[in-house]
Amino acid sequence: VKRASLSLRYDAAGSGLLILDQQALPDVERWLSADDLDAMIEHIHALRVRGAPLIGVAAAFCLARVAATGADGPELVYAALRLRAARPTAVNLMWAMDRMGSVLLAHQDEATLAERLAAEAVAIFDEDAALCDAMAAHGAALIADGEGILTHCNTGGLATAGIGTALGVIRRAWEAGTRLHVWVDETRPLLQGARLTTYELGRLGIPYTLITDNMAATVMRSGRIQRVLVGADRIAANGDFANKVGTYGVAVLAAHHGIPFHPVAPWSTVDLRTPDGAAIPIEERGAAEVRGVVSNKGTHRWAPDDAPVFNPAFDVTPNALVTSLVLDTGVVPTADLVAVRLAAHAPASS
Ligand code: MRU
Repeated sequence: VKRASLSLRYDAAGSGLLILDQQALPDVERWLSADDLDAMIEHIHALRVRGAPLIGVAAAFCLARVAATGADGPELVYAALRLRAARPTAVNLMWAMDRMGSVLLAHQDEATLAERLAAEAVAIFDEDAALCDAMAAHGAALIADGEGILTHCNTGGLATAGIGTALGVIRRAWEAGTRLHVWVDETRPLLQGARLTTYELGRLGIPYTLITDNMAATVMRSGRIQRVLVGADRIAANGDFANKVGTYGVAVLAAHHGIPFHPVAPWSTVDLRTPDGAAIPIEERGAAEVRGVVSNKGTHRWAPDDAPVFNPAFDVTPNALVTSLVLDTGVVPTADLVAVRLAAHAPASS
């Protein structure tokens, strides 16, 4: 069995699980082995593999690889728990590990356990790619010819098993002949926009302009942005959502300028057990990322080496700032971003 996406390769009988090192992009396309549990957890911590849906897919394949080495049931349960805890905000990781955990618990004494886990990981991969296509179809219909679209962080083929979430919408609209221009926030501190979204848009031939995060306001005021599309790492039951830090600021700016603002995510990002944004756990990262830059080109510090730092990796955008939410099941209007109504947009099978 083989699967391949822009940033992940799985070959059960050959090279095993490989991830594209997203810290080495855009200059170097380096593939790293991710069969080993400790190695995968380190790849996730270091954001060599990143993006909410992809973390879940990659962790599922890693668990399948650990099972293929002959690990027993209790070892696999422990491995799944460690992977589940590798990053706290993106709920897709927990969702994927819970799916793998259900297979594990149902079949842990059977000789076919490893094959069953591998089949479940492949199913999660295939479903994620299909969900991207569904989101893209719904979202692309929102985009009018000639729009300038601002996006934040990286939400494309690098961040999912398919064409992406927000970037997948942009790609599908572009491929359908809609003329558009993408404004790419660089996305401090880890520069996913500057390093990764530019790389993807360049490969696709989609016109874009890179700006620093603090330029978004003036570009909006100049009339060059007609829509904002972003991803999401966890959507609470009332439609508040966590995404890469800076998203909330973009949402406030969009509201001020009367620009439609849409998170784009698969249903696996919706967490009905989290009532609202205040209950979403937000990852905090090390000070070096804010005192300077931490990248494949080395660590470069410009602030005093003892400067006190706050480094939340995500922020929460309140539901009131969402024009509509693009899911794989359809476009959800603001009025439905309350718990009982959001649940009605679940896929029929869930
Ligand atoms: O810290 P990262 O780079 O994993 O954060 C990624 C994001 O915030 C994305 O917007 C989100 O995962 C959705 S992308 C499909």
